[in-house]
Amino acid sequence: MHIFPILSTLSLATARYTLHLPPTLQTGPTTADYITPSLTQSDLDSPKLNHANASSFDWWHFDAIASNSPNTSVAVTFSNAGPIGYPLIFPRGNASSSHPPTNGTHPNPNQNPNPTGALWAHVWITFPSGRKFTTAVPVATARVSGSGDSSLAIWHGAGGWMGSEEGYEVEIEIDQAHGSIVEEDGIAVLGRISLERITDSHSGCSTAGNFSSALGLGPGSLDGNGGRGIGWVSVLPDAIARVDLRVNGEVLRFEGYGFHDKLWSTSPFTSSTKSLTRGRAHLGPYSLLWLSYTPLIPSDSDSGMGTGTEAGQEIVSAFLARDGETTHAGCEAGTVRMTPGREQTEGGPVSGFQVEIPGARFSVATDVEVSESRGRHVRWNGRARGVFGREGGEVEDEGFAVFERFEY
Ligand SMILES: *[C@@H]1O[C@H](CO)[C@@H](O)[C@H](O)[C@H]1NC(C)=O
Ligand SMILES: *[C@@H]1O[C@H](CO)[C@@H](O)[C@H](O)[C@H]1NC(C)=O
Ligand SMILES: *[C@@H]1O[C@H](CO)[C@@H](O)[C@H](O)[C@H]1NC(C)=O
Ligand SMILES: *[C@@H]1O[C@H](CO)[C@@H](O)[C@H](O)[C@H]1NC(C)=O
Ligand SMILES: *[C@@H]1O[C@H](CO)[C@@H](O)[C@H](O)[C@H]1NC(C)=O
Repeated sequence: MHIFPILSTLSLATARYTLHLPPTLQTGPTTADYITPSLTQSDLDSPKLNHANASSFDWWHFDAIASNSPNTSVAVTFSNAGPIGYPLIFPRGNASSSHPPTNGTHPNPNQNPNPTGALWAHVWITFPSGRKFTTAVPVATARVSGSGDSSLAIWHGAGGWMGSEEGYEVEIEIDQAHGSIVEEDGIAVLGRISLERITDSHSGCSTAGNFSSALGLGPGSLDGNGGRGIGWVSVLPDAIARVDLRVNGEVLRFEGYGFHDKLWSTSPFTSSTKSLTRGRAHLGPYSLLWLSYTPLIPSDSDSGMGTGTEAGQEIVSAFLARDGETTHAGCEAGTVRMTPGREQTEGGPVSGFQVEIPGARFSVATDVEVSESRGRHVRWNGRARGVFGREGGEVEDEGFAVFERFEY
């Protein structure tokens, strides 16, 4: 393995934890942690499931968007998860079959080549031209270790990350062509995303200056024993990003802004979620993050028979920082509003959203859309324009946003 040369200097013997994630799913119940013991990066980034079973998931997500074009972006998710209720597209069964790799139009969205496998990696890339590339790979072994403010992970054959107080080095190392990139013979995405921290970590009900260690979002008790809902923490809400990738030999190099968060649950995502939107933006000196989650809960019926599910209360979280300093953060009901609309841009009107969070009103154009699972999972990149501060002292700024929606 030639990635992470620094690995040899980080003494694994002193790591507070080193976990080898089992490559196969456990049968039966699993448990999850929804309270973090500390806000050190190793605790925020630690695997949250004691062992993935078929209906649980644990994801580490990273993305970056270019600061000179909303078209250019990369997103990568490393996961430890089972197939029941899994919202991302599974890899194709056979990487060396005659079908060319997918580029956003997946031929067989729900085919899971390894129903008992637990480890996966997904990559989504949008090029300056607006062209899209998507791939997913099964992973045979993965290891995560952490100590204090550093965390280190390797998903063998896909990449991994090395995190420190300053940020992350995320490696993507998918090489199904085994070194030689022969057309149709497999895909290769190689390179790195460097993220230099701008803002502090944020969890659902964290406020400016007070990090909340409760990472569960959802109704009832998220005690790790089948409670519905999800765990969420944005370990890195905003960062300066430098991206240097080769995608099937094509160079994609850009600078911009990056993001890292983590999502997990012991409940199947698609059947316990009505909708989940999470987005972030960087406008001038401002960093913004917003989340809206509506769980599906079993509907109460007097007969006591489970007759189905209904949408629960919307749960929100918002975060706003200026020059890296948090100015507003919280989870008060109704404080994140997102309405679809048309956005006027230099190139004419485009679709977009108006978003309002405490301290900011902004609009994002959906310049590029990556849609999967018949639109149930969509990621947008776009130009953003916003107004910050109170009436009278408002300032305007411009930038870019990346946001994602799951809807069932
Ligand atoms: C996985 O674990 C959760 C939590 O214990 C449980 O509710 C669920 O039924 C388990 N899933 C499977 C497929 O065993
Ligand atoms: C994948 O496809 C190739 C060519 O079609 C075939 O030779 C190979 O055996 C397949 N591998 C698996 C694991 O099915
Ligand atoms: C950005 O992508 C869109 C398609 O999503 C395309 O129409 C547009 O031309 C691209 N912009 C540039 C500068 O290439
Ligand atoms: C995917 O690739 C095919 C041909 O290989 C091309 O026709 C199509 O436009 C591409 N789709 C996207 C979204 O880039
Ligand atoms: C921080 O949050 C905790 C729990 O929500 C609360 O008890 C405490 O008073 C808060 N501290 C400050 C300084 O706001």
